[in-house]
Amino acid sequence: MKIFYSHLRYGIIILCFVSCDIVKKGQQTKAKEYNEPHRPQIHFSPVQKWMNDPNGMVFYNHQYHLFYQYYPDSTIWGPMHWGHATSKDLVHWTHHPIALYPDSLGYIFSGSAVVDFNNTSGFGKDGKIPLVAIFTQHNSKAQKEGKIDFQNQSIAYSLDDGMTWTKYSGNPVLKNPGLRDFRDPKVMWYDETKKWIMTLATHDHITFFSSKDLKSWTKESEFGKEFGAHGGVWECPDLFTLNYMDQKIWVLMASLNPGGPNKGSATQYFTGKFDGKEFIPFQTDTQWIDYGPDDYAGVTWSNTGNRKIFLGWMSNWQYATRVPTEKWRSAMTIPRDLGLEKIEDKYFITSQPVPEMSVIDDKRLELKKIATSNNEITKWMGNLSGPARLRLTSDKIESFTITLSNAVGEQIVVGYDKAANNYFIDRRNSGKVSFEKGFAGIHTVPRLSNKDVFDLTLIIDNASIELFADNGLSVMTEVFFPGSLFSAINIQSTNNFRINSLTYYNLKSIW
Ligand code: FRU
Repeated sequence: MKIFYSHLRYGIIILCFVSCDIVKKGQQTKAKEYNEPHRPQIHFSPVQKWMNDPNGMVFYNHQYHLFYQYYPDSTIWGPMHWGHATSKDLVHWTHHPIALYPDSLGYIFSGSAVVDFNNTSGFGKDGKIPLVAIFTQHNSKAQKEGKIDFQNQSIAYSLDDGMTWTKYSGNPVLKNPGLRDFRDPKVMWYDETKKWIMTLATHDHITFFSSKDLKSWTKESEFGKEFGAHGGVWECPDLFTLNYMDQKIWVLMASLNPGGPNKGSATQYFTGKFDGKEFIPFQTDTQWIDYGPDDYAGVTWSNTGNRKIFLGWMSNWQYATRVPTEKWRSAMTIPRDLGLEKIEDKYFITSQPVPEMSVIDDKRLELKKIATSNNEITKWMGNLSGPARLRLTSDKIESFTITLSNAVGEQIVVGYDKAANNYFIDRRNSGKVSFEKGFAGIHTVPRLSNKDVFDLTLIIDNASIELFADNGLSVMTEVFFPGSLFSAINIQSTNNFRINSLTYYNLKSIW
């Protein structure tokens, strides 16, 4: 690797490095089918056909299960199945056969899975602990006939660690009370009352139900009609705790479509209290887990103890069915560890890429103290070759831009605008954008941190970028479709921006 500094005219300092040897060519044997244009190399995507929400995420017997909304016959949404993959490290994934197929009760919509350690359901046999999946069945025939109660909740169980599933003969277990939107059950164990709690999206709010056996459910309460954002329908909720210092804080998440902060789909959350019956929020306004346009329907894995790991669908219903990929559609975000920070009197969720990702770290470049003086323009330039992780730290944040570009002049610009106190991602000129009118835009996330010190992690893949700023307080995810891979990276600031450290990793393909 060659690194050289050059001082140019007009006080421009250019720090260049040539990183053609950062990735050893041919080092990673890629599965043939994972080499198509725009194919994510470090994100989960199905081999082929349509995928949306992550479902049934549960950790059991050293494996992370990822089920997902899947339509095996088309690259456009259709009768939903649960696709299935597992991972031992949250990074590399093994594909498995479809876990749940539609039946006479309807398509298999989104839902969750739990480990029924105490065999409350009675599905366990010969001491084998059952995994139980709880999901919505969407009866499209009933919908077409003009009925309202076409979404009901069903369950299925597995006695072979999640590999095969048997639907319960008494389905549906929770019948529709006359609501068009009655879906996406997320179930957790509430130890204080020894009951299961189901958090269900019911049109413009959440309804909580409880059960002793996962089969018979009682309504407990409703939340949200007067709280949060209501630009669209609420979907895919989650309820869990995060620790702040020694306190247990409850978090309620609800995806919203449309009505997100940067248009279309996004996920809002509330912090508050929960007593097994009712959720009481600490705040009335809306907080977003990720301000970017491409993180939707995300929820956390169950059975991970105090650790809460979140994964979202990396797309947006505004254009998901039209994005320019041919063989498959959509990928998931990278898994993220959730935490809490308090700013003034308010709790905020922080998201960070899971540390397990370091297993795909390849060549690393680390630079210390990239500085300018007298308001010169700082520039740092490097070559990009495939997926990468870039981390910057500074003692004092200033406006800057980071541009990823290719030989034909397409680019993604990420940056911070001090006057607006926003981070932004500009994909106006990022390549193929015409499939959707609003796709070519600049999207922003407010800087929530009130500190001078700053850190930024960017996770860059062939067709996406994920931004985590200030310890994961400000987060944005965006997809893009350049004509050829971005091959150059360029950091600029006109504001005396001192970068304390810059770490750049090439990442090995997970496939
Ligand atoms: C969210 C969603 C869910 C539903 C599923 C159908 O993206 O609309 O509410 O269960 O997708 O595929």
